[in-house]
Amino acid sequence: MDDSDAANAAAFRKMGLGSAQRHVFLCVGPDCCASTAGLATWEVLKRRLALSGVPVMRTKAACLRICQGGPWLLVYPEGIWYGGVTPERCERIVQEHLVGGRIVQEWVVERYPLPGMISS
Ligand code: FES
Repeated sequence: MDDSDAANAAAFRKMGLGSAQRHVFLCVGPDCCASTAGLATWEVLKRRLALSGVPVMRTKAACLRICQGGPWLLVYPEGIWYGGVTPERCERIVQEHLVGGRIVQEWVVERYPLPGMISS
């Protein structure tokens, strides 16, 4: 193992790849929503996930290619697309879906688990 392999392995451990049960992507705009709104939701997502301790990886995205009706929160492996994710909605999605495992059906705009992914 060379230095870059060791650095990569350390980075994967730090991001929680080995224990992650979900990966969420939040688009913070600027086309689907105002960037200020997207970033406000992002801050809630980061804080609530850290407080919850659930093994979820998170990625801040600049575009998920729908470009309207955001901020969008995409949850894998379920392939759930939540639209219009305000900070208040984000709090509930984290608590009910990411911690509790219950999808917040009323805010689901689309569901598309990628082929081969486990659906719950
Ligand atoms: S800018 Fe958010 S989906 Fe394109």
